[in-house]
Amino acid sequence: MADQSKRWILMTTAQTPTNIAVIKYWGKRDENLILPINDSISVTLDPEHLCTTTTVAVSPSFDRDRMWLNKKEISLSSDRYQRCLREIRSRANDFEDEKKGIKITKKDWENLHVHIDSYNNFPTAAGLASSAAGFACFVFSLARLMNVKEDLGKLSAIARQGSGSACRSLYGGFVKWNMGKNDDGSDSVAVQLADEKHWDDLVIIIAVVSSRQKETSSTTGMRETVETSKLIQHRAKDNRRLVSELHLIFLILILARVQSFRIIGCVEKWNSAEGSPQAAYTFDAGPNAVLIARNRKVAALLLQRLLFHFPPHPDTDLDSYVIGDKSILKDAGVKDINDVEALPPPPEIKGNIPAQKYTGDVSYFICTRPGRGPVLLGDESLALLSPETGLPK
Ligand code: DP6
Repeated sequence: MADQSKRWILMTTAQTPTNIAVIKYWGKRDENLILPINDSISVTLDPEHLCTTTTVAVSPSFDRDRMWLNKKEISLSSDRYQRCLREIRSRANDFEDEKKGIKITKKDWENLHVHIDSYNNFPTAAGLASSAAGFACFVFSLARLMNVKEDLGKLSAIARQGSGSACRSLYGGFVKWNMGKNDDGSDSVAVQLADEKHWDDLVIIIAVVSSRQKETSSTTGMRETVETSKLIQHRAKDNRRLVSELHLIFLILILARVQSFRIIGCVEKWNSAEGSPQAAYTFDAGPNAVLIARNRKVAALLLQRLLFHFPPHPDTDLDSYVIGDKSILKDAGVKDINDVEALPPPPEIKGNIPAQKYTGDVSYFICTRPGRGPVLLGDESLALLSPETGLPK
């Protein structure tokens, strides 16, 4: 039995990446267990640019489970949090730290309360997969704190019950979520297809057109699609995914805005002028465009076009307009706002058609690349909770 008289606090901090799906998960066959109607595939994004950091703490002095997200206390009462907590607690194991005088048995974990503090280094719920990184980090950090021995695949099935796309954030690189067949969801897990080094010059540029919370959540959007769309039923049955993916693009674009279409237009114009795809684009249930370039050379050409058509306000600092991997800016030959203003119209803009510029359409760009899976942060100074009080620092 854990010594309740001691005021010890045991803490773990972890960092977990976001992911962007290239074959989308859209629609559930079981809303409670979060079981999808199709397999999906994603790229895990470099956590240096987009990630969730979570500190979890346990102490006999805590009187209830509490959680903070981006410095604000939030309720843990939703089924999704409760289910993940229950699944992790039921797999907890004995833990002992003789030096600190901490001994927790498997049974103790049922009665000990946790504090969870989570922070996203990107806008929450702006369509940047914050629930994916968030639930992946929630499950991964609690599992490590509670000495859970299950492998990442098993943890992915727990994270899936928090938010479907979260299961793919348990791995780095290129990840597939197998929809599975079992009613209990035990085979609906993520697997790594290739690690982040497999395609290490792949560049992903996210055009954040709005950092406001998105108006329709993925959960609601996909429920309405499953209820009302014949195409989605076809997609669920159809193995020729790429063809049926086209249908999905139209469904997801309903959540896009006029700025999103202008970004699509810029890429489409370039691709058709070249006669072959240069850059690809995708959206995750929100207006932010995610642009994909197969190597750094193509990424530099893409960024030149994006900055030409979507320049920052003249008083915006370029350093805060293009964030993440800034070396792409250097490759594009752009070091300051004067260089942006001096960018020539891309060759696909033909002579007498005036080049369109949409200042203010994009809030900022994030340049990133494939990244690694979850890690523990051993350095205690990086913890979000105070080791003395167990409350946010
Ligand atoms: C468009 O995982 O956020 O990003 O399972 O209801 O929490 P819930 O939905 P969520 O949906 C993500 C949808 C998507 C596509 C994808 O990531 O595959």
